[in-house]
Amino acid sequence: MNLHKLDKYAKSLIKVAAGRIRSSFATDLLIETKSEANDLVTNIDKETEQFFIHHIKRDYPDHRILGEEGFGDDIHDLDGYVWMLDPIDGTMNFIHQKTNFAISLGIFKDGVGILGYIYNVMDDVLISATLDEGAFINDIRIPTVKQVNLEQSIIGINASWVVPNKYMEHEGMVKLLQKVRGTRSYGSAAIEISYVVTGKLDAYMSMRLSPWDIAGGMIIAKEVGAIVTNLANEPVNLLGQGTFLIAKPSLHKELITNYIQLK
Ligand code: IPD
Ligand code: CA
Ligand code: CA
Ligand code: CA
Repeated sequence: MNLHKLDKYAKSLIKVAAGRIRSSFATDLLIETKSEANDLVTNIDKETEQFFIHHIKRDYPDHRILGEEGFGDDIHDLDGYVWMLDPIDGTMNFIHQKTNFAISLGIFKDGVGILGYIYNVMDDVLISATLDEGAFINDIRIPTVKQVNLEQSIIGINASWVVPNKYMEHEGMVKLLQKVRGTRSYGSAAIEISYVVTGKLDAYMSMRLSPWDIAGGMIIAKEVGAIVTNLANEPVNLLGQGTFLIAKPSLHKELITNYIQLK
């Protein structure tokens, strides 16, 4: 398998899919709920996933696909080539704000991330990475992440952290919020990860993400020296849901050691 050919192919699918998503603004969205009233999905999420699967199955019949909307394969192992796709990450933003949503894609070979992509559809910004060849923002190389101390850091964190949770004592949370320079919440895990790898955020954490939310991002993170683990400081699980933390190296250590204490 020629990695550069596969990279070109994946990028062309992403660009065409994004064009279709942008065109969908001219038509009415069909909005449904999934697990609960705020867990939304649209016909465009589904059609985008089906678009990818149709082309990948036609052009790479031995590759398997794990997609959020369930049109791909039932994946219980990472043997061979596996594509992990979130057709629209940030569906709520897509519906309500028409901005700040991304196509997130990671391609793995026997469990090793080889190609990663986060495409911010409305900003037309493609972050991509190839294993051991670096990461790029629209074809410009992204430098290794710079270290930052906690006092000067901006952390991607959402409001769920202020309600009682099992990861941080309330005092730990207050201590963290008092110490950091600022917090942000963008409503798309993939975009938040893309901001960490490009230095707009210094860390991002979540209590529950799925493989398709993080697959592209973790491949990109590796190429720029950002650290990805779960909140127990273990490798993330690519076959199920879990907690998630991405941060610049020393900040990652400080967050894990001094703030995120699993009960
Ligand atoms: C969601 C977004 C959101 C995160 C949720 C994800 P979706 O993905 O990434 O920021 O907090 O946990 O499920 O459903 O919009 O693809
Ligand atoms: Ca969803
Ligand atoms: Ca998602
Ligand atoms: Ca999604």
